[in-house]
Amino acid sequence: MSTFEHIIVESKGAVGVIRLNRPKMLNALSFAVFREIAAAVGDLEADDGIGCILITGNEKAFAAGADVKEMQPKGFIDMVNEDFKASGGDRVATCRKPTIAAVSGYALGGGCELAMMCDIIIASDTAKFGQPEITLGTIPGIGGSQRLTRAVGKAKAMDLCLTGRMMDAAEAERSGLVSRIVPADKLMDEAMAAAEKIASMSRPVAAMAKSAVNRAFETTLSEGINVERDLFRSTFALDDRAEGMAAFVEKRKPNNKHR
Ligand code: CAA
Repeated sequence: MSTFEHIIVESKGAVGVIRLNRPKMLNALSFAVFREIAAAVGDLEADDGIGCILITGNEKAFAAGADVKEMQPKGFIDMVNEDFKASGGDRVATCRKPTIAAVSGYALGGGCELAMMCDIIIASDTAKFGQPEITLGTIPGIGGSQRLTRAVGKAKAMDLCLTGRMMDAAEAERSGLVSRIVPADKLMDEAMAAAEKIASMSRPVAAMAKSAVNRAFETTLSEGINVERDLFRSTFALDDRAEGMAAFVEKRKPNNKHR
C-alpha cells in the first residue's frame, strides 16, 4: 500500500474511501495530490476486497480546484513537462471499478473535474459546482470543458466556463450533473449506502454495466448498442447471472460469487 500526505485512504468493508485532506487550502489539488489520488485508486483497484471507490472532501470543500499558488509561477514549458495527465490527474476516469464522488461545499475547477471523472456524483445541499478558470486567465485543464458539456449540454457548460459562475446543488441536479442531493449531514451515510449497494453486486457485471454506459460517451448510438448487446450476452457466461435469475425465481436474495 502507498503512503499519503494529502489524502486519507480507508477501506470500509468493500468500499474504498479516498478523503482529500488539505482543509486549509480547501483541498486544492496540487500535482502531488493528483499523484496520491492516482496511487490510491491503483491500490484500491488492485484490492480484491474492494467493490466501489468513494471520493470525498470535507463539509466546506470537495476541492476548490487545482492549486493556483503552485501553478502561479509556472510557464508553458513547466506545464508541458508536468501536466495533470502525466501526474495521473485523470486516473479516476480510467478506474475499472465503480466510483462515486460525495460532494459537499466547493467543487470548482479541477475539483469539479475530479468529481466528473467519477461515475456518480452525490451532492449535499451545500454543494457548489463551477469551472471558474476563466477568472484566472486560463481554461479547464483536466477535462472540464468536455465532461461538463457532455453532462449538462452546451448552453450551461458555456455559461459556466465563460462567466466562471458557480451553480448550486439544485441547479446541478436539474442539469443532470449530479444524481441526487442529500442534506449535508446525511451525505456520507447516503454515499456509503450507495457504494455498499454497488459493492454487493457481482463485480464483473458492475464493470460491464459501467463500461456499457461509458460507451455512450465515446461512440455512435448503433455501435454503443452493439457493445451493450455483446456485454449483455457475456453476462450469460457468468455464474452470478445464473445465480441472480435463480434467486429471483426462487424468491430469495442472490449470493454473488464474484464480489
Ligand atoms: N488553490 C490554492 N489555494 C486555494 C485554492 C486553490 N484553488 N482555493 C482556495 N485556496 C486557499 C485560499 O488561497 C486561502 O488560503 P489562505 O488562507 O492562505 O489565504 C484558503 O484556501 C481559503 O480560501 P478563501 O479564503 O479564498 O475562502 P473563501 O471561503 O473566502 O472562498 C472560494 C472560497 C470561493 C472557493 C475561493 O477560495 C476561490 O475562489 N478559490 C479558487 C477557485 C478557483 O479558481 N478554482 C480553479 C482553479 S484553476 C484549475 O482548477 C485549473 C484546472 O482546470 C486544472
